Amino acid sequence: MDYLEKNKDFWDSGCPAENPESHVFRTYGRILKPELGITGEKHEKLLDFACGEGANMLFFKKKGLDVYGVEISESNLKKCREKMSDIADHFQMIDPKPSKGDMWYGGGFDVVIGNHAFYYYNDTDLEIRLETIYNMLKPGGIIYATMMGTKMTQFYDNSKEVGDGLSVVNFKHSRFEIKDYYMNFMESEQDLLHHFKLFKKLHLGWYADKYREDEKENFHYNFVGIKE
Ligand SMILES: C[S@@+](CC[C@H](N)C(=O)[O-])C[C@H]1O[C@@H](n2cnc3c(N)ncnc32)[C@H](O)[C@@H]1O
Repeated sequence: MDYLEKNKDFWDSGCPAENPESHVFRTYGRILKPELGITGEKHEKLLDFACGEGANMLFFKKKGLDVYGVEISESNLKKCREKMSDIADHFQMIDPKPSKGDMWYGGGFDVVIGNHAFYYYNDTDLEIRLETIYNMLKPGGIIYATMMGTKMTQFYDNSKEVGDGLSVVNFKHSRFEIKDYYMNFMESEQDLLHHFKLFKKLHLGWYADKYREDEKENFHYNFVGIKE
C-alpha cells in the first residue's frame, strides 16, 4: 500500500481538535492581523488545507473571513459540515495524492493555512502540493504553515527514514499507539525555507510543548510567507 493510502487509513478515524491551538490564534494576533491586515472586514478568501474538524476554519469564519476547507477524511468533513451547516458546500474531499493541476474553489485565495498538514508528504509530493497552493493564492497572498521538526523527539526518535524525505513512525505509549505514520521532518530552518522557496519568508518561528514526564517533546516550526 502506498504511504498516502496508509496515512488516509490512519486519519479516517478523525482528528479530534475542538478549538484552534494557541499557536494559531497567537499567529493571528501577532502577524496576520496587525502586520498583514487580515481582519475579516474584507471577507478575505481563506483555504484551510487539511482542515480536520474545522476548528481553525470556525475561528477565521467568526472573524468574517470567507472560509473553505479540504480534507482526506470523511469523518472530519462530516464534523465540519455539522459545525458550519450554513457553508456545508465549502468542504471538499480531495485525493491524498497531489496533482499539478489541482485547483479548489476557483483559487484566488488571500490566505492558505496548513496547520499540522503539509508534513504528510514526501519531498516530491510536497513540492507538487506547494506549487498548487502557490497557484491557488492571489499575488500578495499569504501562506501560514506549521511543520514538524526533527526536534519533535516524541516522533523523531521513534522514526525510520524510508527515502525522499519521508520517515515512518512506530511506537507504543501507555496513552496511545502510533503505527506506520508517514511524515516529513524539517531538519532545520534552512531545510524548511528550502522546501517553501516559492514563498518569500515573512516570519519563521517555532513552538514546543511537553505535558507529561513520560512523554518526549513536541516541536513545530511556524512559517508565514507571501506569494510575491
Ligand atoms: C493533525 S491533523 C490537523 C487538522 C487541522 N489542520 C487542525 O489544525 O486541527 C492532520 C490532518 O491532515 C489530514 N491529511 C493527512 N494527509 C493528507 C493529505 N495527503 N491531503 C490532505 N489532508 C491530509 C488528515 O486527515 C488530518 O485531518
